[in-house]
Amino acid sequence: MPRLVRNQNLLPMVNQSDPQDIPLSLPKSIVLVGLMGAGKSSVGRRLAQRLDMHFVDADREIEDAAGCTITEFFERFGEDEFRRGEQRVIQRILSGPPVVLATGGGAFMAEETRTAIAENAVSLWLKADIDVLFERVSRRQGRPLLAQKDPKAVLQKLMEERYPVYEKADLWIESRRGPLEATVDRAYDVLMDYFGDARKAVPAE
Ligand code: S3P
Repeated sequence: MPRLVRNQNLLPMVNQSDPQDIPLSLPKSIVLVGLMGAGKSSVGRRLAQRLDMHFVDADREIEDAAGCTITEFFERFGEDEFRRGEQRVIQRILSGPPVVLATGGGAFMAEETRTAIAENAVSLWLKADIDVLFERVSRRQGRPLLAQKDPKAVLQKLMEERYPVYEKADLWIESRRGPLEATVDRAYDVLMDYFGDARKAVPAE
C-alpha cells in the first residue's frame, strides 16, 4: 500500500511543518451498508485504519448495551425490539464525532435511520452477489435471520427487498471474492473521489 501524504489545506489549525502529524480523518462519518456477508465489518475495520478514524460496529454496540448476543436478543425480545435498539444505537453513534460505522444488514431499511445517516454521514453500500454472500455467511453462525432450513433462499429474498433501498446510499462499491484489501482499496478510492481532490492521498515519492 502506498504511504499516504496528508493534505494540509483542510486542517489549518494543525502544525503544518510536519505533514505526518495531520490526520487524514474525513469530516463526516462513513456508514457501511449492505447485506449480511457483504464485508461491512471487516472492510470497515481496515478502512478506518487507513483513514485514521475510529471503527464502530453497530451490532457489537447493541450486544454490549444489551449484555447478550444478537441471537439471544432476537430470542428474548424479538426482531421489532432489536430494530428499535438498532435505531437508537445508530442515532447515538452518529451524534458523536466522525467514525467508520458498520451497520447490521437491516439498519438502512428504516427510514428514520436513513434520514439520520443522510444528515450526518456518507453512506457506502457494499454490493455483493448471492454466491459471495452465501459463501461468507456460511462461515459463521450468529445470524438469527439465516438460522433456517434454506438460508440461501432467505438471502435471495432479502436481496430482492433490500437492494432497491440500498441503492439510495450515497456511494456503492462491489464487494467481490478475493482479497479483502481490494475491496478496501475500492472503498478508499470512492471516498477520496467523493470528498474531492483536497482529501486525495497520493503515494509519497
Ligand atoms: C441483520 C443483519 C445482522 C444483524 C442481525 C440482522 C439483518 O448484521 O444486525 O442479525 O437484518 O440483515 P450483519 O449484516 O452484520 O450480519
